[in-house]
Amino acid sequence: MSARSTHDHYGSVAVALHWVSAAAILVLLPSGYLMAELEGGARTFAYRAHLALGGVVLVLTLARIAWRWWDDKPDPLPGIDGLHKLAFEANHVLLYLGLLGASVSGVALSIQSGLAESLFLGDGSIPANLWDFGPRMAHRVFTWSVAVLLLGHVGGVFLHQWTRSDTIARMGVRGVPTASHEQLRRQS
Ligand code: HEM
Repeated sequence: MSARSTHDHYGSVAVALHWVSAAAILVLLPSGYLMAELEGGARTFAYRAHLALGGVVLVLTLARIAWRWWDDKPDPLPGIDGLHKLAFEANHVLLYLGLLGASVSGVALSIQSGLAESLFLGDGSIPANLWDFGPRMAHRVFTWSVAVLLLGHVGGVFLHQWTRSDTIARMGVRGVPTASHEQLRRQS
């Protein structure tokens, strides 16, 4: 697979950025809700890991936006037009904005509350109420938006995979069941 994308699939750089970001986000979403319920060393470890991985997602998202701008674009998915196409594109743009908002608000919250300094340079204590700081609410809104947009993204991709064409193969994963030629012939 070439580094740059071609007309029918994403290149290795876009594929690697996509799957590493996806794995990190799938860890960040549940850990964000669960870490406040933990106690002692596990709690400190979970907060440290969340902040570090969140920082990685910020860098990866910026790298993805820069690479997407520079890289060649695969052809639009076949069989998508009008409102469907608009929804698909809007989902992508909003996901990027949501990820940027989630990671920037996380960084702002951690700096403003002194959490980052305490976890990485201090005694590891966690402020009693992070809701005293403005970016806490922004982080909730952005992370919820990311969760909802991700459901739409994954749902849309699988729907297309099963009813139209091998969409997931474009992102480097082969062998996921897709609509057969027979099904497509009956649809047309
Ligand atoms: C896209 C990246 C990120 C995702 C998906 C994410 C996800 C989450 C989620 C789901 C929550 C719980 C939200 C809630 O209770 O309403 C949370 C809380 C939190 N996140 Fe993130 N996060 C991300 C990036 C970051 C970054 C970059 C930092 C800091 C460097 C950070 C620091 C925090 C903090 C301090 C909390 C608050 C925990 C508490 O209230 O005790 N997050 N995150």
